[in-house]
Amino acid sequence: MSAPIINGKQISENIRAKLREEVQELSTQGFKPGLAVVLVGEDPASQVYVRNKEKACVELGYYSEVHRLPGTTSQEDLLALVDKLNRQENIHGILVQLPLPKHIDEKSVIDAISVEKDVDGFHPVNVGNLVIGDDSLLPCTPAGVIELIKETGIELAGKHAVVIGRSNIVGKPVSLLLQRENATVTMCHSRTVNMKELTKQADILVVAIGRANFVDASYVKPGAVVIDVGMNRLETGKLAGDVDFESVKEVSGPITPVPGGVGPMTITMLMQNTLIAAKRLAG
Ligand code: GUN
Repeated sequence: MSAPIINGKQISENIRAKLREEVQELSTQGFKPGLAVVLVGEDPASQVYVRNKEKACVELGYYSEVHRLPGTTSQEDLLALVDKLNRQENIHGILVQLPLPKHIDEKSVIDAISVEKDVDGFHPVNVGNLVIGDDSLLPCTPAGVIELIKETGIELAGKHAVVIGRSNIVGKPVSLLLQRENATVTMCHSRTVNMKELTKQADILVVAIGRANFVDASYVKPGAVVIDVGMNRLETGKLAGDVDFESVKEVSGPITPVPGGVGPMTITMLMQNTLIAAKRLAG
């Protein structure tokens, strides 16, 4: 029997409906959460992401500003814009779309974003707060992964979660969030020896390694929850996850598809973070 599919699109829509309602309520008090998105250059994937973020703001009733800057923009000019947005009262969230052009130091830009407006959760202070378990703005994709696992109704406490991939954006923060939920966490990555021995022990398997169809059924314990964070563009133009969905769904428990799994959650979590930041800043 084939596993239940975790419908990220529907779950995301349910959360968005709640956000829309809350924003509508706030607007009757004359308050609107505001998000600024900064895009430098013409990377096609980034252009799509930024357009989707802009669309989400409109749909949910947020104030939004998109700053599209040429790829030749200097680091100094970008930092000046970040500084202006940090001080702008109608902006509560700032997102600088990555990757940035090579001549700009990403770390300097992320460090320059106000901690309170860092809706990506990438600022070192927010990362540090995540490590020590303090209140912080959580990185969007990892937060979305946890929401999807919770939606399955499966209790995380005491479970063995295995994360494949150790990136700063997904693998590392996901492992911290899983620990916060009292799971026992093992991290695997490209240098892990006998990876299957570990993944086959997983009650929950989160895959974020960036290789198309890397995980097949032989990696998966029967009934395990499988969350696929991968988004790989194949030569055919088709989108593929890091999990070979067709084979894995025959052995796994609840599993996310690509597209329609983790992807829709990322922008939804960004919108949630912006609302949280707005409410905190409004005090
Ligand atoms: N590029 C790809 N994903 C992301 C993201 O989550 N945030 C930012 N700022 N840039 C990205």
